[in-house]
Amino acid sequence: MQDAGRLPFSQACENNKDAILKVLQQELQEYTHVLEVGSGTGQHSAYFAPNLPHLQWQTSDVIDNHHIIKAWHNAYPTSNLYAPLTFDLRTDALPKSVTGKLYDAVFTANTLHIIAWSLVENLFKLAAEALPTNGKLIIYGPFNENGHYTSASNQSFDLSLRQRDPSSGIRNKEDIIILAKQHHLTLGNQYQMPANNQILIFKKIKRLRAEE
Ligand SMILES: C[S@@+](CC[C@H](N)C(=O)[O-])C[C@H]1O[C@@H](n2cnc3c(N)ncnc32)[C@H](O)[C@@H]1O
Repeated sequence: MQDAGRLPFSQACENNKDAILKVLQQELQEYTHVLEVGSGTGQHSAYFAPNLPHLQWQTSDVIDNHHIIKAWHNAYPTSNLYAPLTFDLRTDALPKSVTGKLYDAVFTANTLHIIAWSLVENLFKLAAEALPTNGKLIIYGPFNENGHYTSASNQSFDLSLRQRDPSSGIRNKEDIIILAKQHHLTLGNQYQMPANNQILIFKKIKRLRAEE
């Protein structure tokens, strides 16, 4: 087992993990199999999986991050926590589950403002294709509302993101909701979270036969 004190560490994950967990405990009571997109350090998964023991928690990320995620999983092993699958949003399908079962929820934290808009579009498309009716896409992060920043700290964060990568930046919640609708994902509960973040819960709605 790796010395947990030496693991690559995200202070933001440490700060927000309890607040996110409370929402997941509420929203995922009836769910069984989650795919996490952009697992990052793996800290969230190592905390959420043991606290959501009814779920199978599948991590994923681009390959460069796998060694960090695995290090966290080695330090905090849990039987319902799965080693990262390689998943880059530039591809055309979600990674297949190692359990052979379908995911009924997709969770991602702090990714939409990092990736280009075309990859945000791909995330919604792929999640909608993979999720069953009533499956949930759960998104945590900062959002703008009505075209405005929700705080001065989000504004300076957005400017720093765009300076580093012009295709990144905090997304408008309204654009996300329109994109979701295009993929038959409808906005359900919304949660205001600490540090000017939010959680948006999208649910896959049943399509009428004529639409298929
Ligand atoms: C700011 S980190 C967030 C990590 C973690 N979810 C958290 O909340 O701390 C953004 C994540 O998006 C992932 N990412 C960036 N580009 C990606 C892509 N093209 N496909 C999939 N994941 C990507 C990064 O590897 C990283 O894990």
